[in-house]
Parts: sequence; structure tokens; C-alpha cells
Amino acid sequence: MVLRIPFVTKNEHKVAEANIVLKKYGVEVYPVNLKKIEVQSESLEKIAALAAKIAYRKLRMPVVVEDAGLFIDALSGFPGPYSSYVYKTIGIKGVLKLMEGISDRSAKFRAVVALAYSGGVKLFKGVVKGIISLEAKGTKGFGFDPIFIPEGHAKTFAELGTEEKCSVSHRGKAFEQLGKWIVENKDKLIPEFRASPRVEAQ
Ligand code: IMP
Repeated sequence: MVLRIPFVTKNEHKVAEANIVLKKYGVEVYPVNLKKIEVQSESLEKIAALAAKIAYRKLRMPVVVEDAGLFIDALSGFPGPYSSYVYKTIGIKGVLKLMEGISDRSAKFRAVVALAYSGGVKLFKGVVKGIISLEAKGTKGFGFDPIFIPEGHAKTFAELGTEEKCSVSHRGKAFEQLGKWIVENKDKLIPEFRASPRVEAQ
């Protein structure tokens, strides 16, 4: 039996990455195109938790939301919760420009996955440390993948490919936690799917 849970996102890469990790737990997420209500906050936790609560009210079944960001040490954590906006505006080129002449290139990606269900909202977090590369490299993945080299690797996320990225990534770690929690708490979730008009447990 695979437990299929809606994931509020338009990003197919996020869905694929989550499913690589969730597979071994008998869980699968599928994208739902609800508008993800994002409160303006510097906390990924607050953004993800509130978005999940709102999505749960609309869908009336357990639902997953994720909020992630790139935090660059030399820029005091910028772009952080504003990563999506920064990516759409100045983009990778702009970030590389901001980093010109800066020798401390350390950065981290953080992800917060929120699961909303009748018992409330559970948060699962993941962090990966690394550095901002001097130039963009690789074509796989999305967002800032071409300029992020995870610790212990010589290649950017965009050069590594999805499987390898997920074995170290912020998202991989957060969804690992979610998978473990679901396995331990399946009895709490399954009745909710059964009660829902959209039965997603197979
Ligand atoms: P979101 O608001 O959670 O969708 O993520 C904010 C932004 O952070 C995205 O638009 C990406 O630019 C960036 N981001 C988040 N996760 C990743 C990742 O795994 N790789 C590259 N960029 C990411």
C-alpha cells in the first residue's frame, strides 16, 4: 500500500526529489496546484506552517507544504526566505555579482516541510552546508542548484543529479524525517484519508 499525500507546489523538481526519499517509506507525494498562501516572515517555519494549515482547511485531508531558501553567510543569510523573489529578479548572475571579491563563500540551504492533519501541524527540517561556486555549472535541478557545492563534494547540485543531490540535500533530509514520522504514525493518518471524499490511500 502506498500512501499518497498532496503536496502544495508547482515545482516538479521538488516533487521528484521528495519522492526519491519517500519511496522507501511507502509514501508518495503528488502536486496540487492550490495557491500557496505565503505570509511575509523571516521564518521558513512560520511560512510553511501557516501555508499548510490553510491548505488543510481547503483540502480537508492531510497535506504537505515546503518552504526552502538559500542562506549565504557573508550576506548575513540573504536571500534566505526571499530566495524565490531573488531568484526571479536578480537570479544566479545577480547573486554571483553580489559575491564578487568575497572570499568566505560559505552558505546553506534550509528546508522546512510542514504536514497538516487533524492532529495539527508537524514540521520537519533539513539543512545542507556548502559553498557558493565562482561560476554557474551544471544543467540539472532548479533554482540556485548551479551555484551551490555541498560540503564534501566538488560538484554543484546541478552537476550531481537528483539522486545524489537528495542523499545530502536540505530537502532530502527534511523528507526523510517526514517519511519516518509517517511510518510511525500511519494509524493516525490513514483514517483521515478514508474519511475524505478524495480517497488517496491505495
Ligand atoms: P520555495 O519558496 O520554497 O519554493 O523556495 C525558494 C527558492 O529557493 C526557490 O525559488 C529556489 O530558487 C531556491 N531553492 C529552494 N530549494 C532549492 C534547491 O533545492 N535548489 C536550488 N534552489 C532552491
